[in-house]
Amino acid sequence: MKTASRWLTAFSVLPAAIFGILSANAIPVENSGQILEPAKPPEPSLVLGNEACVKCHTAEVQVWKKTPHASTFEQLHRKPEAKTIASKLGLNSIKNSGRCVACHYTQQQTADATTRVISGVSCESCHGAAKNWMAIHHDFGGEDFTRLDESPTHRVQRIAASVKAGMRNPKNLYSMAQSCLRCHTTADEELVNVGGHPAGSLDFEFVSWSQGLVRHNFLNSDGKINELSSPERLRTMFVAGMIAELEASLRATALATEKATYGITSAQRAARAGARLASIQQKVDSPEVAKIVEIFKSIQLKLNNESQLTNAADQIAELGYKFAETTETDLSPLDRFIPGRDLYK
Ligand code: HEC
Ligand code: HEC
Ligand code: HEC
Ligand code: HEC
Repeated sequence: MKTASRWLTAFSVLPAAIFGILSANAIPVENSGQILEPAKPPEPSLVLGNEACVKCHTAEVQVWKKTPHASTFEQLHRKPEAKTIASKLGLNSIKNSGRCVACHYTQQQTADATTRVISGVSCESCHGAAKNWMAIHHDFGGEDFTRLDESPTHRVQRIAASVKAGMRNPKNLYSMAQSCLRCHTTADEELVNVGGHPAGSLDFEFVSWSQGLVRHNFLNSDGKINELSSPERLRTMFVAGMIAELEASLRATALATEKATYGITSAQRAARAGARLASIQQKVDSPEVAKIVEIFKSIQLKLNNESQLTNAADQIAELGYKFAETTETDLSPLDRFIPGRDLYK
């Protein structure tokens, strides 16, 4: 595994920040009242399944089929490590246990109201259950319009409407990063401490993890070329990924009740994400990142601190979304820290 990101070597973790040492004075934060929903598994009754996308997104589906996200469906329940985790938790089934389904599978509710697992991590695991946004997202202004005829105003309205209907639209990279980190942070204390499941993908980094085998950017070329995202987009992605990592690891730390692998790893990860954002903030001038660092400094990474940490995560989510939506900050000073192609997974 290529884990040695340049970023990791350039900035060290702050171990002193773990469990209570980082306890500066609380700084009050305005609350605009508009808190972004944390990422969650797609609602089974609203899931359409990948067959509903393949007609128009053939190339994307082809790429997806070759990823571990797809293959976990056939493979996970056969793995000895998976069986060990399940038996430590007393679960009879891996595929049908709610415990594993949230992150390894996609569930759909059929017409007779039974719920079944239909695939591994699917389009809708990352983009949101599609039933309510499907029609909206490919209506470009009426029946006779294709995406090439769409007016800029219509585009803005269409994307906003799709988000309102539950889509995690890649227009906002923060909402996409939240999807990744919902699963790539294991917010389940018993699964880790008792089951022995990895406490999350500790080397997750949004650029390098999204631009390799997971990448499916075919829209510009009508399905022909799988393009890398632009340098500007990669910069936003880099910072958005760090913010989402902080959000997710605070949510995980919030659920920690015992001083064992889960709580320690989650708090260390939050401390590391906070330290990285502080270092980003010294290089670029982003009001959202500055505010996030302020919030981070005002909290305590300690056990049984759910309401403070969840509240901080909610505020960070809102700021992360805003950062990705509106940033006009020059992020080019970060270029030398952004993982290059040799580190793409
Ligand atoms: C009837 C054709 C059609 C179907 C079916 C369809 N899409 Fe799309 N989708 C499109 C087109 C066309 C675009 C390009 C829009 C543009 O130019 O921005 C698009 C764009 C997208 C985007 C980029 C963001 C956006 O809103 O432009 C995502 C993500 C997406 N589709 C996901 C899906 C998923 C997931 C499914 C299945 C659940 C699906 N689509 C089914 C036609 C379709
Ligand atoms: C919070 C999300 C989450 C839940 C819940 C979860 N997993 Fe995982 N699991 C992951 C992620 C993400 C990875 C990949 C970690 C990596 O490679 O960085 C993973 C990896 C694994 C692996 C190692 C995979 C491999 O290819 O060797 C096993 C085994 C596993 N999970 C089993 C389980 C079992 C069994 C359950 C249910 C009891 C479960 N997981 C529940 C997110 C989750
Ligand atoms: C629904 C849960 C879920 C979501 C959402 C999710 N992942 Fe994953 N991801 C997994 C699991 C589970 C695995 C491991 C599968 C296995 O090996 O069985 C994995 C594996 C991967 C791998 C392969 C890791 C390796 O070591 O080879 C990459 C890369 C990856 N994910 C990137 C992403 C990115 C980028 C996002 C967001 C855009 C994302 N994932 C969103 C669950 C998820
Ligand atoms: C692991 C999470 C994940 C899964 C699974 C996933 N996507 Fe995406 N999708 C993303 C991310 C992240 C982006 C933005 C990537 C970027 O800008 O480089 C994206 C972008 C897109 C786009 C816009 C690409 C472009 O050219 O601008 C479309 C269309 C899309 N996805 C459709 C799909 C379809 C269809 C599926 C299922 C076959 C799918 N996605 C599965 C995370 C995911």
